Amino acid sequence: MQAFSFKNPTKIIFGAGQIKLLGPELVADGIKHCLLIAGGGSIKANGVYEQVTDSLQKAGIVISESWGVQANPRLDKVRELIALARELQVDAILAVGGGSVIDSAKAVAAGFYLNDIWNAFRGSEQVKQALPIYTVLTLSATGSEMNGNAVITNNDTTQKWGISSALIYPRLSIIDPSVQFTLSFRQTASGAIDAIAHILEFYFANDTAKSTLAINAALLKTIVEMTDRLKLNAGDYEARANLAWAATLALNGTSGIGLNGGDWACHAIEHSFSALHQEIAHGEGLGVIFPAWIGYVSDRAPARFAAWAKEVWAEDSVSLALHKFRGKLEEWEMPGSLRDLGIKDPELPTLVEIILSGAPRGLGEVFKLSKDDLQALLVLAF
Ligand code: NZQ
Ligand code: ZN
Repeated sequence: MQAFSFKNPTKIIFGAGQIKLLGPELVADGIKHCLLIAGGGSIKANGVYEQVTDSLQKAGIVISESWGVQANPRLDKVRELIALARELQVDAILAVGGGSVIDSAKAVAAGFYLNDIWNAFRGSEQVKQALPIYTVLTLSATGSEMNGNAVITNNDTTQKWGISSALIYPRLSIIDPSVQFTLSFRQTASGAIDAIAHILEFYFANDTAKSTLAINAALLKTIVEMTDRLKLNAGDYEARANLAWAATLALNGTSGIGLNGGDWACHAIEHSFSALHQEIAHGEGLGVIFPAWIGYVSDRAPARFAAWAKEVWAEDSVSLALHKFRGKLEEWEMPGSLRDLGIKDPELPTLVEIILSGAPRGLGEVFKLSKDDLQALLVLAF
């Protein structure tokens, strides 16, 4: 097992009816005025907005609002929000939504103190300070509610890039699984695939961290089982709750302990899909590329892939496990190919260029994918 350091500063309040605790928590932290950031309106339709504003108003917190963060959030919106946060001189950012809203909030919190937030993504400015970040999660998928990552798309350059900083972990995240009853099964499954992918990014990178791998196998099985239950009943609270917590654990640091930092090639590849086509949900893109990647690289670390086949799918061969994995995604009616995602054949070279612009020397840890490998992999996934 590799040496590691682990710290996760985010406080989690979890359970049905817990949003009412938001106001008192902000008061306890000395917050007086927050900028509430939201997406396209789902939080108004499902009552989350009302619960949030009720709690804040009762606690005497001043709320300013900004709506319209899109799925696969954009840099131009982040810049607009930074200008607003500066103008209003808020003392905290509150994200109410899924990963896109939370990631935007993090970029705003850090960008508040920078010349230009994109510099932090390009590596030419360091995040040295950030406004306090609070979140009310409405979609379990990214783990953003309990990590220090933010992923934003620069539409001018078609780059969907991430930053990681200890300074942008949310101070508090409230996870009320019951607010996710209003998700479509497509969104639920897409979130589940993202959580599965986060664990898989770590799973094959090293096989000495047995305790982490045992936790990860259990999380993978739990995510599949809970998603199956939610396909039958979107209002199954226990399934929502277990999927939610598994998704948080999938990317809050614990699933990667002792595992070489993970592979992350599939994530970089998927980010090129949703950078080029903003209508592609991140989890759906991962559902296409991950099985193709497993097929392409599993020979490079056969013992690790065999362990995954056995522990997660109760199969003695990787190809049978891969067949079961694909079958599950099909059962969930997820896109099965790049074509299903709406990507056209002539776009494949563009995707390779986008991927390499973020990783000029190739990418991946289990197996380093070159430009030729990327081309071959995309053709396989097409
Ligand atoms: O816009 P609103 O109205 O909020 O609707 C959203 C959006 O249309 C809707 N939704 C959210 N909660 C709902 C709901 N609809 C009904 N009921 C609810 N309770 O769902 C749609 C998708 O939301 P979005 O926030 O985009 O989804 P997700 O949480 O999957 O976030 C995806 C983004 O996070 C990035 C992805 O690349 C993508 O940009 N990631 C962030 C990571 C991180 N910060 O650590 C890691 C991930 O690997 C990922 O890259
Ligand atoms: Zn992801």
